[in-house]
Amino acid sequence: MPRQLFVTTALPYANGHFHIGHIMEYIQADIWVRFQRMQGNQVHFVGADDAHGAPIMIAAEKAGKTPQQFVADIAAGRKPYLDGFHISFDHWSSTDSPENHALSKEIYLALRAAGLIAIKPVEQFFDPEKGMFLPDRFIKGECPKCGAKDQYGDSCEVCGAVYAPTELKNPFSALSGATPVMKTSDHYFFKLSDPRCGEFLQTWTQDGKLQPEVANKIKEWFTKDENGEGGLGDWDISRDAPYFGIEIPDAPGKYFYVWLDAPIGYLASLKSYFASGGPKERYGELRGFDEFIADPVVEQVHFIGKDITYFHTLFWPAMLHFSGRKTPNNVFVHGFLTVNNGEKMSKSRGTGLDPLKYLSLGMNPEWLRYYLAAKLNGRNEDIDFNADDFMARVNSDLIGKYINIASRAAGFISKRFGGALGEVSADGDALLDHLRTVAPSVIELLAEREYGKALRETMLLADRVNAYVDQNKPWELAKQDGMECRLHDVCTTCIEAFRVLTILLKPVLPALAAQVEAFLKVEPFTFASAQVMLGQGHAIGEYKHLMQRVDIKQLEALFEPPALTNQAQEATESVAPGGEELAPTITIDDFTKIDLRIALIVNCEAVEGSTKLLRLTLD
Ligand code: 2FM
Ligand code: ZN
Repeated sequence: MPRQLFVTTALPYANGHFHIGHIMEYIQADIWVRFQRMQGNQVHFVGADDAHGAPIMIAAEKAGKTPQQFVADIAAGRKPYLDGFHISFDHWSSTDSPENHALSKEIYLALRAAGLIAIKPVEQFFDPEKGMFLPDRFIKGECPKCGAKDQYGDSCEVCGAVYAPTELKNPFSALSGATPVMKTSDHYFFKLSDPRCGEFLQTWTQDGKLQPEVANKIKEWFTKDENGEGGLGDWDISRDAPYFGIEIPDAPGKYFYVWLDAPIGYLASLKSYFASGGPKERYGELRGFDEFIADPVVEQVHFIGKDITYFHTLFWPAMLHFSGRKTPNNVFVHGFLTVNNGEKMSKSRGTGLDPLKYLSLGMNPEWLRYYLAAKLNGRNEDIDFNADDFMARVNSDLIGKYINIASRAAGFISKRFGGALGEVSADGDALLDHLRTVAPSVIELLAEREYGKALRETMLLADRVNAYVDQNKPWELAKQDGMECRLHDVCTTCIEAFRVLTILLKPVLPALAAQVEAFLKVEPFTFASAQVMLGQGHAIGEYKHLMQRVDIKQLEALFEPPALTNQAQEATESVAPGGEELAPTITIDDFTKIDLRIALIVNCEAVEGSTKLLRLTLD
């Protein structure tokens, strides 16, 4: 029976365009989704905009738009990113959808019926001019520790102190500049401190479904210190009007805090996907959303970043469980992405690598998919995008090792053998057998999100194939009399091997794999097809170059700061090392002729009578 999977990525706030951190997460999830589909499993992969909350409401007001219009404008810009990086969401919705309003209220009412909602007074800063309670980020003042001016209500950027907004000296509202006043209002709480919640979550988080490092971190959140502090506290799930969100039933002027309705947005997006008829069209799914989501066979999987683990492994499963629903089967947590050893990608401000700029420079989206996959593993470790490493991995591994196999063999098949594959002899068979034997372990690594290891294994296989090519030298066989049969045999082996490698790479490189399917004139690859050869007589198409190399100029342009004026740009370009023109870039073939060695320079001196020469003494 095929598995039935419901897969999501974290819902992005609708207050800005995607940055590279979002794209990394989507690529990680998309590879897994495509992998599952190739295994014959059924996957519903949905996303949505996280529309609610005070920051979006305030940003909309600044932009002179309603929050709805503001969010719709952001949503309208999503497609070029998702299509551009080949991310195969089935459906994209918004947490402000009618489905989410209804489901959020339904889940809340069920929690209330279970006795898990409490009302308690909360005293907070209130902006008397704006007539609203201020979120921490919108209160500023002087740091209570070091006195630095203009610091946020939660922490000091100068001395790093962390404090409550009420501790700030001379606080003021970042919205109006007014001095805030303390005001009390009733807030609604989800009673996470209820022993039922603690008991349920202790088991849910520690029963093996989470990554070990994540489960360990969560243990700390249950532990009380010697003063009885810490442990699971009640969660404040309400905000007072004005607020862009979902109204709480029977509580006029109160709205759900954005983090209450955001994960419910996963279900709501799936529900609207079902309403659109998508699952029926794709898999002939006849059940409605309610039946589908309640089916114990359906697996619910969330891909998220490590900063939102708390919400997804405590609040979210508790909300689902105590409202009588099924809980997630997995929460796959990844680390942060940094760029060129830079800062971590922040939520609001991506740094370094602009995804749309990348595409507009004509850079192949599958280079980035390949590179990020090569860096990713199944743990929540941070990874770094490094420009030099990117170029090396794409040009040397992806193109140098893998693409080259096809380009070295395909021409002979079409020119010399009418495009038909030949017979493979014993040595080729042994090579192909090795590939088929190793393939299941690569598949296993992909299933575990160990993409880096999977690609390393695949490149080791490519090395073997290249060694076979180098031993047999088809370009020399082609010049020798009487070697026609061997040439056909060797090139056929290469094409069969290239096909198996392409199958293993397909979840990472879907567009490239589609080109290869067309070139080989075959049905879309599945993993099962890796075990069956095309066979003698199979006619393949004309080989067209499959992928360009990364050009250093593209990377330079990608990381060129946008603020540079034309004049400044000319100045930068005109300064070459030594004041001389740089020599033209050599090709990879020229590069391989170079004999490079490493030595320690123990002495270096100017050569008398020369303005350029240096005398080096090497160890
Ligand atoms: O951290 C964020 O960017 C949130 N918008 C993620 C929400 S995930 C889910 F709960 F919707
Ligand atoms: Zn300070």
